[in-house]
Amino acid sequence: MDLTQLVRSAFTAAFPGEDFSQVKVVPATDPKFGDYQCNDALKVAKKVGLKPRDAALKVAEHIGEALKVEVAGPGFLNLTVSPDWLAGELDSLAAAPSCGIPQKGKGRRVVMDYSSPNAAKQMHIGHIRSTVIGNAIDRIFRSLGYEVIADNHLGDWGTQFGILIKGYRECLTQDERDNLTVANLEKCYVLSAAKAKDVDETWKNACREELVKLQQGDPDNLALWRRFVQISIGEFERMYLKLGVKFDTYRGESYYNAMMPGVVARLIEIGLAKESDGALIVDLSDEKLGVAIVRKSDGGYNYTTSDLACVGNRVTEYAPERIIYVTDDRQQLHFKQFFSIAKKMGYTDVKLVHVPFGLMSYQGKAISTREGNLIRLEELLAEAKRRSLEIVKDRGGDEALAEAIGYGAVKYADLSHDPATAIDFDWDKALALEGNSGPYLQYAYARVCSLLEKAGEVGECDFAISTQHEKRLALQLLEFPGAVVRAAEAYKPSILADYLFQTAQLYSSFYQNSPILKSEESVRNARLRLCALFGEILKTGLSLLGIETPRHI
Ligand code: ARG
Repeated sequence: MDLTQLVRSAFTAAFPGEDFSQVKVVPATDPKFGDYQCNDALKVAKKVGLKPRDAALKVAEHIGEALKVEVAGPGFLNLTVSPDWLAGELDSLAAAPSCGIPQKGKGRRVVMDYSSPNAAKQMHIGHIRSTVIGNAIDRIFRSLGYEVIADNHLGDWGTQFGILIKGYRECLTQDERDNLTVANLEKCYVLSAAKAKDVDETWKNACREELVKLQQGDPDNLALWRRFVQISIGEFERMYLKLGVKFDTYRGESYYNAMMPGVVARLIEIGLAKESDGALIVDLSDEKLGVAIVRKSDGGYNYTTSDLACVGNRVTEYAPERIIYVTDDRQQLHFKQFFSIAKKMGYTDVKLVHVPFGLMSYQGKAISTREGNLIRLEELLAEAKRRSLEIVKDRGGDEALAEAIGYGAVKYADLSHDPATAIDFDWDKALALEGNSGPYLQYAYARVCSLLEKAGEVGECDFAISTQHEKRLALQLLEFPGAVVRAAEAYKPSILADYLFQTAQLYSSFYQNSPILKSEESVRNARLRLCALFGEILKTGLSLLGIETPRHI
């Protein structure tokens, strides 16, 4: 029996003919006010010509036997559920596939644009947020039944390739060229860019010529460029494999090159773009968004143009209901500008969403080349594994376990914060076994698994809720599907992380206060069912955050 439905019916019975589809029942803010509350009597009072408290009292008369209701303060409805109702709800939740996550997204398609690093550069700690947050949103949407197309919008085109091609030919040894890695590409880029910048006019011109040749389709340069991008994707994929991240497509900026002139022609045709100092711009100052350049004075296109071409392509090819972009918050203006132009170009059926995240600092210090702490992602993950191995090896844990815990810790340290906030990465906090950390939740899962193993076969039994600890945990478990929906609606995996942490804490107080294996059989079995449901929910929730749940730690 759906509580919201029940309370809405009471409103309708009290005040026939009104629309109460907005009436909501939410978990009580404090257990002393009951289990759930509804504050809508205050909102409808005026409409029905009563004082709020009288309206609430009238609704209360129609609530029926299943719920205990109390009218508090100016007209709050405080609701207390019966143990039988709770047991029934737990039964349905335990029987539902995927822990009751509603399939709201069935038949709906979403494109997710995340991670998207720049080619020929090694991924570093700064790339972790887009990858991890994007992937969690991706997983959450898939769990709701959406068809998700995860597209890696690589930065694989631009002036850097002229510098790289020149650097590749002249700054690397034959051996380095033969065994090309992203590290070597990065090295030759740095050397070549330094020469182009400070000393050598001829070098600078040569870089530019290589770029022009590439843009004009010179086969040698094109082959080199292709090789650079291939090697980069190969290395990124090694990181993605460690992180459990998978993309459906890798369409970098270059994929849209041929479509850019068409975009610009269209912008001119509909009177959006105009000349300014040789460049072509879209003036958005009316919306306080400044000016976006869509073609530079040298004829080159830029980031905005390629994102516009990309949106057109995605709409034609996939007809998604939304496209979700996950990047750091320094790109906010870019996305505002480009969304506004896209709308004016007629892309109004697709919802464009930017999920900006705050920067990450490392152990209290800003991450920058100057600080010398631009840690490569590979090193960060290796360090996470090394530190976890220290922790688990005394318990006989192996490398796979150290990876599950180490990588899980890194991800959770990120995902447990609202994406919009800046965060600091700190090893001790990330790997702590107590407090709001990945390992804490993984341990909670492993502990419940070993309890269930110890208990062995549990005979058929119903859920039974009698103590406050059981009740608090049961009410919280029922909130799981709602937490997943809220995380998706707000594009905040942190909502799910918070939920899981609170659930683990409630489980822990239930566990400490409720003897299980030593209780008499019916209590023991009912409690074990509650433990099993908690384990299932924790495992499912963590998997939506991309965090593994080993059964033994
Ligand atoms: N490559 C860009 C960067 O490293 C991110 C691309 C984000 N996606 C997009 N469609 N603009 O900052």
